[in-house]
Amino acid sequence: MRLTGRVALVIGGSAGIGRACVDAFAADGASVVVADVNDEGGEQAVADVTAAGGKAAFAHTTIMEEESVGESVRVAVDTFGGLNILVTSVAGRPPADVGGRAEAWKYMVDMFQTGPYYASRQALPAIVESGNGSVIHVASIAGIRGMAAGDVDATAYPTSKHGVIGLTKTLALQYGPKGVRVNAICPGYVKTQLNQHLHEADTDGSFVRDTLRVPLERWGRPEEIGTVAAFLASDEASFISGQAIVVDGGMTAR
Ligand SMILES: NC(=O)c1ccc[n+]([C@@H]2O[C@H](COP(=O)([O-])OP(=O)(O)OC[C@H]3O[C@@H](n4cnc5c(N)ncnc54)[C@H](O)[C@@H]3O)[C@@H](O)[C@H]2O)c1
Repeated sequence: MRLTGRVALVIGGSAGIGRACVDAFAADGASVVVADVNDEGGEQAVADVTAAGGKAAFAHTTIMEEESVGESVRVAVDTFGGLNILVTSVAGRPPADVGGRAEAWKYMVDMFQTGPYYASRQALPAIVESGNGSVIHVASIAGIRGMAAGDVDATAYPTSKHGVIGLTKTLALQYGPKGVRVNAICPGYVKTQLNQHLHEADTDGSFVRDTLRVPLERWGRPEEIGTVAAFLASDEASFISGQAIVVDGGMTAR
């Protein structure tokens, strides 16, 4: 119970890696606000945490709008009395009605880079005030190396992920003196709905073993990222700030 008495806001907490962070934080004693556009998944997360004896609330939130993120911070403060931990773990692709290349590029950068900036800007005053604070942005191994695929999504994604690591380091410098640690987690290939098409097709594991050449020869599980987030949010990580922690089964060791 390393996070007893602390309040966490997980943007993107309705599914995948964000949901695993919600579960890991609640298991460690934190009260958690699940903030997401997916109401059904968010309500389910709250129900599951509550049924297990924890405390959670849902806030319908889009990371694309600063006002919306600010409202989720208010939900945390009003419901649980403050805010200590922010996680951003949002993912999506441009919807069909997003037209040309410029719009698709903007959509991806808004989601993966500007959104984490908005979230940080809105959450940090409350985190500073509550003390013992930590911000964790879920970046990617695409934040530390390029991607060869050439479409606009596959160009904007690593560009934004590199940006969010820059944001992480910059905020760590700015907010360290105020007692806030800021880190990023860089997952490798983790089984979530984001890459469902890939892992469902990988029935014999050959994609991760032979194509991606992941040394551990398997996909990651969301909870293997959630446990790292809980560690980073806890006092066990009290001297870790400004880092991009890679959790990829050894893939980027090559
Ligand atoms: N799964 C992987 O292999 C992998 C690898 C590296 C990095 N990541 C990163 O991890 C993060 C989470 O991805 P995931 O795999 O858990 O995806 P996911 O699709 O399982 O979950 C993403 C969540 O974000 C929510 N969301 C979408 N748009 C939103 C918005 N505008 N505002 C708020 N919430 C919104 C979704 O409803 C969903 O609950 C992403 O930043 C992704 O880039 C994932």
